[in-house]
Formats: sequence, structure tokens, C-alpha cells
Amino acid sequence: MSSEKNRLLDLLGISIPILCAPMVGAAGSSLATQVTLSGGFGLLGSAIHTPERLERELEEVRQILGTDRDSPLRVGAGYIGCWLDGLAEEDAKKLIKIALDNRALAVWFSFGNDLQKWVQFVRDYDSSTGRKTIIFVQLSFLEDALVAAKDWNVDVIVAQGVEAGGHGYGAAPPLRSLVSSIVSALPEDGPVILGAGGLVTGGHIAEIIKLGASGVVLGTRFCLTPESMYPDPYKQALISAESSASVRSEAFDQTGNWMQWPRGVDGRALRNATVDDFERGEDVQVLRSKYKEALPVHNVDRVIIWAGAGVGVMKSVKAAKELVQDLYQECLASLAKS
Ligand SMILES: Cc1cc2nc3c(=O)[nH]c(=O)nc-3n(C[C@H](O)[C@H](O)[C@H](O)COP(=O)(O)O)c2cc1C
Repeated sequence: MSSEKNRLLDLLGISIPILCAPMVGAAGSSLATQVTLSGGFGLLGSAIHTPERLERELEEVRQILGTDRDSPLRVGAGYIGCWLDGLAEEDAKKLIKIALDNRALAVWFSFGNDLQKWVQFVRDYDSSTGRKTIIFVQLSFLEDALVAAKDWNVDVIVAQGVEAGGHGYGAAPPLRSLVSSIVSALPEDGPVILGAGGLVTGGHIAEIIKLGASGVVLGTRFCLTPESMYPDPYKQALISAESSASVRSEAFDQTGNWMQWPRGVDGRALRNATVDDFERGEDVQVLRSKYKEALPVHNVDRVIIWAGAGVGVMKSVKAAKELVQDLYQECLASLAKS
């Protein structure tokens, strides 16, 4: 593997360059810690947590990993810029500070109009405590990567391609071209570069590493683990889904009635009756009310099941630790062939 890869392993002190995305609703303490224990690195989807819930989850992480209070916690905490912007500034800072006070090794920011503000907040915290928190930002355009590298001086850039499950930029380039353009534009000693979007096999991971990325971030694939918080009917829907079932649409945010995302952000999830009705022009209030009824009973034809473009290739639930190790072996075998 390239020397770039080694920079990720050194930075996080890990042995496998596979990370679990900080997925709201899917990645909690159980999933994140199992990925870390596998040799990869797990992040908590903490974006919409209350302070109490985040404290509790970090405490669970500490217990599972057996980490004492004075040592770094080997997981990251993911924050969404526009959700932070929707809070009073003091409350947003408080939420980030919980991860920092708990010594999370990394924080992750995405989808905000002013992510630099939060990056700076973490840098200031580090200056006042003498610590070093690893800062990730997820983005989808080369121009943004140049700013994050040169002006914000982030540690890790996660290039999110249009194939990605969950929220993302509808106009994002496909992952392979995005990673290539960012790798060629940034200096070798710039931020570590990772790829995310539609990756579900070791062969996929090898392709991204061959393009010069140090590693990868997987989301949807980790939803199909016993440790993910996705309810069982959602997991069954992921297993049954064909590749064509993963669609980008504004139907999801309209139906969920979620707050304003930055311009150009929509979501990728499984096609179901909600999407079909939205495309037919159904009144959004009707969609919302059917969605609310469907949520408690996990009616998969109406709820939102975030899923990336690789969904058609995932056919089984596998424990997170085993999954990471199997993916890595497949990746190494694929790299050895090339
Ligand atoms: C269920 C789910 C929840 C997600 N939640 C977040 C989130 O809270 N913050 C974030 O930055 N990205 C989130 N994402 C996007 C991931 O960071 C990542 O870009 C994506 O999962 C990669 O594509 P893949 O799902 O095809 O592997 C989520 C994705 C999924 C599938």
C-alpha cells in the first residue's frame, strides 16, 4: 500500500484503514467500539444527541474499551454543521466540548455553511488544554477540499461521492473522480484523504486506496451488523434491496420535515412508497402523516432507510469486528493482484 495509507494508521494509531461513519440512528457506542476493537476506527453519530445522551454514550465507550479517564478515547464523535447552527451557539459548543472533555480522539464535521467556526473551536480548546484532537471534515467538492486543507488546516478530509448513503450533495462527483482530483491537488504532507460512498466490498476499498486515498469510510455496510442501531426490519430491507433501490431524493427531508440543510444537500435511501408518492406530487402533509404512523411499527414501505449505491451487493448481517477484518483481507488480496 502507498505511504499515504501509513499516515492514517499513524495518525489514529490503528492497523486497518477502514472507518465506520458517524451515522445518526445507526452508529452508537456498540458499533463504534467494535470497529475500533477490530483494528479500524469507529465514530459515533452524535449529531442530534442531547448532552446527556452523548455523555452516556461516551461513558459506554469508555467501559467497553476499558479506557481510564486520563487516556484518549479511541473513537470519534460526528457533528453536523447545520444542526449545530440550529442550536444556540453556547449549546452547540457544549455538545462539542462533551466529546473533547471525554478525550475523544477525533471529531468529525459535515454539512455546514460555516464548518471553520467549529474547527476553530476545537483548535482553541486544544491550545488551552495542550491536547491534540484529530479533526475530520467530510466534503464533496475539490474547491471545498482546497479550503479545508489550506485555510482550516484539518487533519483528515473525507471525500464523499454521490454514491453515499444518508445525506450528501446531489451534484457531488462520483467517488473515484472526486478522490483522484483531491489527491492530485493536495500536497503529500497535506491532510490525510479518505473516500466514502457506495463502498461495500474489499475490492471497492482497494480501488479507492489505489487512487491514492489513505483509507475509507463505510456507512451503509455497517448498518448490516448486529451492533448497528438500525431496527431488524430495516436490515431485512437492506438485504433484499437491489442496486437500483438506492435513490437520491428530496423526498426524505421533505417527509421527515427536517431542518434546513445547506444548499444542494439531499439524501440517498431506499426507494419505497414514500418516494413514489413524492415523485407523483403527493401532498407533503399526507406523506408526513403516513411517515409518522409508519415509524413506530417499522413499516419499511414508508420509513426512511438510508442506503448508499452499494446496497445491492450486501447480502448478510455480519459482526462488525469480523466484517472489518474480512473486508481488509479482501482488500489486500485485491491489491496483491494488481
Ligand atoms: C444511516 C446513515 C446515517 C448517516 N449519518 C451521518 C451523519 O450523522 N453525519 C455524517 O456526516 N454523515 C452521515 N452519513 C453519511 C456517511 O458519513 C457516509 O458519507 C456514507 O455513509 C458513505 O456512503 P455509504 O453509506 O454508501 O457507505 C450517514 C449515512 C448513513 C447510511
